[in-house]
Amino acid sequence: MHASCNLGIVQVGAVGAFAMSAAGALATSRAILGSGSRTAHAAFALARALRRVQKHGLGSLGGKGRERGAAVAGPSDDEVALALPWFVYERTGMKQPAPLLASPFERLRALLTEPDPPAFMIHAGDQIYYDFPLPRRAPDLEEYRRAYREAFFEDGVEREFLASCPQYMTLDDHEIVDGFARDWVPGDSVRPLEYLVPALRAYDEYVASRQTPEIACDTRNLDRHRGYAFEYGASRFFVLDTRTQRSRGERRMLDPEQMAAFLGWLVEHRERIKFVVSSVPFVAELRRRGEGEDESDDKWTGRPFRAQRDRLLEFIHAHQIGRLVFLVGDMHASYHATLRLGAPDRRVRVEELAGGPIHQLQYATRDDFFDEFHGATETCAIPFRTRLRTFHGTGGGVLRIHVRPGARPEIDWRVVRTGTPMGSTHRLRDLSGSIDLAEPS
Ligand SMILES: [Fe+2]
Repeated sequence: MHASCNLGIVQVGAVGAFAMSAAGALATSRAILGSGSRTAHAAFALARALRRVQKHGLGSLGGKGRERGAAVAGPSDDEVALALPWFVYERTGMKQPAPLLASPFERLRALLTEPDPPAFMIHAGDQIYYDFPLPRRAPDLEEYRRAYREAFFEDGVEREFLASCPQYMTLDDHEIVDGFARDWVPGDSVRPLEYLVPALRAYDEYVASRQTPEIACDTRNLDRHRGYAFEYGASRFFVLDTRTQRSRGERRMLDPEQMAAFLGWLVEHRERIKFVVSSVPFVAELRRRGEGEDESDDKWTGRPFRAQRDRLLEFIHAHQIGRLVFLVGDMHASYHATLRLGAPDRRVRVEELAGGPIHQLQYATRDDFFDEFHGATETCAIPFRTRLRTFHGTGGGVLRIHVRPGARPEIDWRVVRTGTPMGSTHRLRDLSGSIDLAEPS
């Protein structure tokens, strides 16, 4: 299994609580503004929407089930006054309430009891969202620890799933703060290291020290990347740390030590099936949305990091490293992209599968990417062509990947849904595909 981005149901619940308190404030304002006021009716509509979500799930907010206009038009003053208290009473009054949101891990946990269960799961970053719902939450060790406890342990189904199946993780920006680099964070009141020190301490405690013994010995070293390698069956895995050592000024995601380890690993396993876990897209090209600071700058194809990506591509081409698949997260979408590198007589192919989000409120669209992109590397001018082959950007989902090794290795993948997108009640088609690693480039 391969996934990323789990906005915990506890955090989404916190947003729900905010919505309820806002609705409460609106309902109270009715007393001031007089009956029939627009604010009171808005409170009524919101309370009804919340009740609908409670009864029928998030999908009931849009599509066929939606009673357009009915929620706003015509409620009596008494109904308006009672709607919110009734909702609160139903949720909390004299009974143990049912969960407002279903766990996105229910389908994943069910897979573990099937005849051919997944061997393990990869989490390519954003296991917690420290900066949600408060984007400017001050860095604090106890708060980072609380974020992990909320994310891993307060959803009972997730807790059971994490305990029943091996989990390989890396971190992305939301384990620290949105868009983090060692020389850049949003706003100017807090310096990057003020975030990194407590964030990395909590990450080491909850994640790194549990899966890689060498990192367990080296915690509190801010200058040591948290990347690692492992193997399973015929496949080799390198899990990159693209975040803790990234520097915009030095135009790098990977520090020299990690870069050297990664290049050595690529050559050592040249003939093997190789998976590289990267928290941000490596192959797929994002569109820029203007000249200023842009979300696309955060990825391998972004302006600060493109030169290091080019160096990696040139190395892959020089050593003719094949059978290479990047497993990436971050984009709140699942897709398959391919990069063809070099002239036809000396061409190599790099594949990329994006998995996730496990649970999110926003999703990427296909329009965020180029369907096809032609370019050349910076130093050696090696031509490349990128193609976004399939894309799935509605609702939560993780990738289930099956490797068929042998003389003609193939990889089958399919999206396992972990939730229905907000505003949609219709059943979406399941996406799947396969990659022939022996196919000529
Ligand atoms: Fe995310």
